[in-house]
Amino acid sequence: RPIRLSDYRAPDWLVDTVHLDVALHPSRTRIKARLALRPNPSARGPAPLVLDGDELTPLSVTIDGAALPATEYAAGPDGLTIPQPPAGPFVLEVETEIDPSANTKLMGLYRSSGNYCTQCEAEGFRRITYFPDRPDVMAVYTTRIEAERDEAPVLLGNGNLVARGDVPGTGRHFAVWHDPFPKPCYLFALVGGRLDVRRTTFTTMSGRSVELAVYVEPGKADRAGYALAALERSMRWDEQAFGREYDLDVFNIVAVADFNMGAMENKGLNIFNDKYVLASPETATDADFAHIEAVIAHEYFHNWTGNRITCRDWFQLCLKEGLTVFRDQEFSADMRSRPVKRIADVRVLRGHQFVEDAGPLAHPVRPETYREINNFYTATVYEKGAEVVRMLKILLGPETFRAGMDLYFARHDGRAATIEEFVACFAEAGGTDLSQFMLWYGQAGTPEIAVTRRHDSQGGTLVLDIAQVVPPTPGQPAKSPMQIPLVLGFVGPDGRDVPLTLRGHGPLERGVLVLTKPAERFVFDGITVPVVPSLNRGFSAPVKIKADLGSDDLRFLATHDSDPFNRWQAVQTLASEILIGNVAAIRTGGGVRHDGGLVHALASVLEDERLEPAFVAQVLSIPSEGDIARDIGRDVDPEAIFDARHALRRAIGNDLAPTLRVLYDRLRDDGPYSPDAASAGRRALRNVCLDLLAAPGHAGAVALAAAQYAEADNMTDRMAALGTLSLHDTAERETALADFAERFRDDPLVIDKWFALQAMIPDPSTLARVERLTDHPAFSLGNPNRVRALLGSFAQANHTQFNRADGKGYDFVAGMVLTLDGKNPQVAARLMTAFRSWRALESGRRDKARATLERVAANPSLSRDLADIVERSLGER
Ligand code: ARG
Ligand code: ZN
Repeated sequence: RPIRLSDYRAPDWLVDTVHLDVALHPSRTRIKARLALRPNPSARGPAPLVLDGDELTPLSVTIDGAALPATEYAAGPDGLTIPQPPAGPFVLEVETEIDPSANTKLMGLYRSSGNYCTQCEAEGFRRITYFPDRPDVMAVYTTRIEAERDEAPVLLGNGNLVARGDVPGTGRHFAVWHDPFPKPCYLFALVGGRLDVRRTTFTTMSGRSVELAVYVEPGKADRAGYALAALERSMRWDEQAFGREYDLDVFNIVAVADFNMGAMENKGLNIFNDKYVLASPETATDADFAHIEAVIAHEYFHNWTGNRITCRDWFQLCLKEGLTVFRDQEFSADMRSRPVKRIADVRVLRGHQFVEDAGPLAHPVRPETYREINNFYTATVYEKGAEVVRMLKILLGPETFRAGMDLYFARHDGRAATIEEFVACFAEAGGTDLSQFMLWYGQAGTPEIAVTRRHDSQGGTLVLDIAQVVPPTPGQPAKSPMQIPLVLGFVGPDGRDVPLTLRGHGPLERGVLVLTKPAERFVFDGITVPVVPSLNRGFSAPVKIKADLGSDDLRFLATHDSDPFNRWQAVQTLASEILIGNVAAIRTGGGVRHDGGLVHALASVLEDERLEPAFVAQVLSIPSEGDIARDIGRDVDPEAIFDARHALRRAIGNDLAPTLRVLYDRLRDDGPYSPDAASAGRRALRNVCLDLLAAPGHAGAVALAAAQYAEADNMTDRMAALGTLSLHDTAERETALADFAERFRDDPLVIDKWFALQAMIPDPSTLARVERLTDHPAFSLGNPNRVRALLGSFAQANHTQFNRADGKGYDFVAGMVLTLDGKNPQVAARLMTAFRSWRALESGRRDKARATLERVAANPSLSRDLADIVERSLGER
């Protein structure tokens, strides 16, 4: 049943060209496929032809133009097998019929808002036609699309448009698209429908002209401008940062309302969840604009890291995803504030990947086995995968890293590659051995580093003793030590770094200390003044660090570290220590400790006018409930965590009220709204100030939020005010929620914000509210964005209410998951991952969560997607 990396075999048959003729029809779409097949010269001799299929209806099969007798093949919904195909190359023609309107899985060809679109990654192409549906079979595609002209005036395919016209006397028309670049079938796409478009022309670095277009639902073209401009910036950046030029005459993006994931990098025809395309100041927040910019870039960057060079098999998914996330993170860092982007990315990594790594769904960046590949589009493959690439850059330095990338592009262009081949390019470029580094791809779990120091100021030596442990994860009880690039600095009393001279090595280049052993001693010479070590600067390695830094040291770093990431980290660590202490106090019936030191550190950051507002906003955002739960790690009580965090926010709001209020007034926007990073940063800080001012619950501050809600001329300020109001059980909250629903009732993406906010209210009445909202006319289980907004927000982001002590949160989510599983297994399985931390809960909730998981597991008709998640969640670890 499970598929194993070690079982990989080259394909028996290769496909050189694919000609598809797709006649679109709402319920009976017909696909004629003509495949030029030949035996793989590197395979083991004559082999049957086995093609994948999924819910297909076969109509006819011919070989080299002659009908194939029914006795010579077997075709059904799940595949087509020809036991004795010709010995040499031949042409196979197959006609199939599918029903796009009945396709609720949103994989393969389906309809969204009446438009036809496709999603083929990972294994959706087999839902369109029979094919060797694996990424190491790369072919050149020509696609003819035909449809009613009225129903689908726009017809788009991969590559360049080569012909179009009417089918005389039928009311139908056609378009022929040709993609000259060989590609795996998961990159196939087509679109047919009524769409408005926004266009521009881009001139590449070598002077070629490319037509760019963003297609959206009719009437929404005015919301596509930001995405189009972000695409132009992405194309320019990839030329400058990686020397990568675009290769077709057109680049099309289509936004659709029903989409399982964020977006898809189909060659020359990216298809997007409209959430990551559509934006206007009135409907999108600053965070939405930033996400759109990042996802547009991500999909564009896949043209080289994913499409020109693809993956040999799905185990290598991080080859394209980790690398492309790294590239989009670097792009956003260059477009915006690098330190703020790094902090935001690390928050995401810790909030999702560290949590995944600590629970039953933990898996390596490159998994070794899977039952359902769609369940491996995870934070580990994407976000930790990006960290691994970043570590390569830190280990090798920027120039050697770039040389390794250049070698990778030169050597593997047009091919399906592996992680070994990727890493070999860096080993060669750097003349270095990366075999221990490969453990980052194979070992799951977050390494834990312990650091102790001893300073001898007389002798001028500082000794660091550093130990590393990688905790056991499912299927991996024992781990080997990793190669860990730990960037560090020693901050002297004047706030300046002292030089790093490592005994037996010399000056430490770029501050990179490389750990390789379970326990190591590093001696630094020439340290005559007292210093505070600043460890893992910029979060150079995705590890947990326990260092013997006292709160004085942390406060010192919070105000003096030259590394902005570690300034932020110092405050987070201080806050985390206080919060964890207070959680324990609350659980034993004691009172919470109020810490003047933390407030003092926050005040010094707030008053430092050299700091950018976006950074200050990050510092003021204390660890989330999820962060605290993760740091506690076991016997987690979500109510105590909420109470401790709430108490700290109240204390900060009270103690800093005058400063927060001054800042709130000073940061008011004076011009029209602009989504640029600096303006967004000012709004972010101002809205954090508002939220903290209101935290103690003073009526005046709540009224301030209500006023901001009513007067806002942009979604960022309106939504932030509503978010603050949502935390206070007041009449203002319900008035504002009702106003919002009325104001945006025709705008599903905005109504999603309304669903999400209500689902996250930390109040016992929320479960009933969410249940009621599942009957709201704007809610639909058929739309993944609605499901994620209402149910995903409740299950993943409302820690106290999903984890209600009576278990009713679990039962509700499990019930919805089971209903959804019949329609859209991928989205159902994703929602079920909300249970991934169940073992870390205190025993009462743990028992209730386990019982719920077992009830779901006992269901006889689970999809493979859901069964995989539930069984792994319950599995031994
Ligand atoms: N390759 C896409 C991206 O990261 C994600 C597609 C995932 N789709 C899926 N059905 N698993 O940009
Ligand atoms: Zn991707």
